[in-house]
Amino acid sequence: MKLVLLGYMGCGKSAISNALSNSLNLKRIDLDDYIEEKEGKTIADIFTERGEIYFRKLETACLQELLDSNEEFILSLGGGTPCFGNNMEIINQKSTSVYLSANIPTLVIRLLPEKAKRPLIARIEDEELAEFIGKHLFERRHYYLQAKIAVSVDNKPVQIIADEIAMAL
Ligand code: S3P
Repeated sequence: MKLVLLGYMGCGKSAISNALSNSLNLKRIDLDDYIEEKEGKTIADIFTERGEIYFRKLETACLQELLDSNEEFILSLGGGTPCFGNNMEIINQKSTSVYLSANIPTLVIRLLPEKAKRPLIARIEDEELAEFIGKHLFERRHYYLQAKIAVSVDNKPVQIIADEIAMAL
């Protein structure tokens, strides 16, 4: 089985894939980590040195490589992965996709302390983060909602969310 977790930055993709990988006994891969290893640079450095378009091409190539492999895994995507080119179509053809849906207050609380590490929000003022996320999520939700399974993550412990996903499979 190939299971793909997607959703906005800060929705908990990595933590939930960790819990699921234990309960389903499946290998876990994080697309951002895979890209960083392949490129020998952090995501932030790739954005700074090569720009977002280069990053998106690399991200799509890595996604395709993983989805075309014979391996079984849980793959946590970057927040923007499903929203470029025909990535969402490919994801749905080659895996079971799960959207981790988080509301804006949840995302703001989680992302405020981590802004600096994330190139797309690093320069947004703290007071403007909620508005930025609201607009960004509005643009992206259309893609996220094409996932085969959607699970709400607000105010739920990671293991409960992982159990809900396992039940829905
Ligand atoms: C991005 C999300 C990040 C990373 C990159 C771009 C996005 O991943 O891929 O900074 O476009 O939302 P996480 O969602 O794992 O933070």
